[in-house]
Amino acid sequence: MDEMAVPASGRTRIFSGVKPTGHLTLGNYLGAVRGWVEEDQHRADALFCVVDLHALTVEHDPARVRRLTRQAATLLLASGLDPEVCTVFVQSRVDEHARLSYLMECTASDGEMRRMIQYKEKTAREQARGGSVRLSLLTYPALMAADILAYGAHEVPVGEDQAQHVELTRDLAIRFNQRYGATFVVPKATLPKVAARVMDLQEPTSKMGKSHDRTAGIVYLLDEPEVVRKKVMRAVTDGGSEVVYDRAERPGLANLLDVLAACTGGDPERLAGAYDSYGALKKDVAEAVVETLRPVRERHAALAAEPAYVDEVLGRGAERARGMARPRVDAAYRAMGLLA
Ligand code: AMP
Ligand code: TRP
Repeated sequence: MDEMAVPASGRTRIFSGVKPTGHLTLGNYLGAVRGWVEEDQHRADALFCVVDLHALTVEHDPARVRRLTRQAATLLLASGLDPEVCTVFVQSRVDEHARLSYLMECTASDGEMRRMIQYKEKTAREQARGGSVRLSLLTYPALMAADILAYGAHEVPVGEDQAQHVELTRDLAIRFNQRYGATFVVPKATLPKVAARVMDLQEPTSKMGKSHDRTAGIVYLLDEPEVVRKKVMRAVTDGGSEVVYDRAERPGLANLLDVLAACTGGDPERLAGAYDSYGALKKDVAEAVVETLRPVRERHAALAAEPAYVDEVLGRGAERARGMARPRVDAAYRAMGLLA
């Protein structure tokens, strides 16, 4: 690997992102954001991005995307990302992402893009509604690879649903380096030990996703405590009355145990043994979630009243990110034969 593979600081570099397609959920928080806050930003040279270009891959309302982008950035800060320690920014403010994405499209094959689970699922859903699928939904992983590779990130902390995209990013980095010379760091996904896939409380066989139409099974970071309690108490559980941890046979129950474990630092199997009724478990889950989200809601309220501060953080973040991405993206242009 050439010297560009090593970040100037000599530290591990981390990149991750969140799409402003809806309000952030408990799944986003436990699966990704909390790890960024508690560990990643302190142990590495880390960048966290609100990936607004990715929000344009599905039907969108411009004013809503703008609002959600600001809200997501505010929530990342409210969750505890510290702009003095890591870089927080908005993707569309740094041109290198789109510049490198095109080179990734010229590195990837049509077939490997079409094999992405998320593409297949979203396409099927859209077609069932009689809608059309944007071309950018297919090329989405090229942009995501660009996000990661532009910064020479070694690690990409994500929830389980993104592991396949990071795997593809690895393949593209390896292929590019083989064809055109060592340019990119080959990154790897890092997943949380528990709650890598938080499930919808009403439909525990599907992921808790922020853009679902039915919201009864989705806990949003900004839900009022009473709303959180109601959603948890009404969570679908499985037949039977014994509290056991079995993801395949008892997905609803396993999900509640995972959430409790993630919020309290316990182990889901061991926690199962501590309960003899669903009701008692749900009550503890509800309180654990309320307490986990309380500081985030409070800090969000304070930060939302200071939009100029958030703007200033995002402005600084974008500038720093640009400086980090530019040399590597330029090198990739030259390596591919462009007179950059
Ligand atoms: P997204 O909302 O798709 O932009 O996701 C942002 C981050 O949150 C990614 O790392 C996802 O893998 C993670 N994430 C989203 N939903 C969940 C979930 N239900 N459980 C665990 N992680 C999730
Ligand atoms: N595709 C990710 C998601 O839906 C968001 C994302 C875009 C991302 N670019 C990224 C995550 C780069 C990690 C690294 O959640």
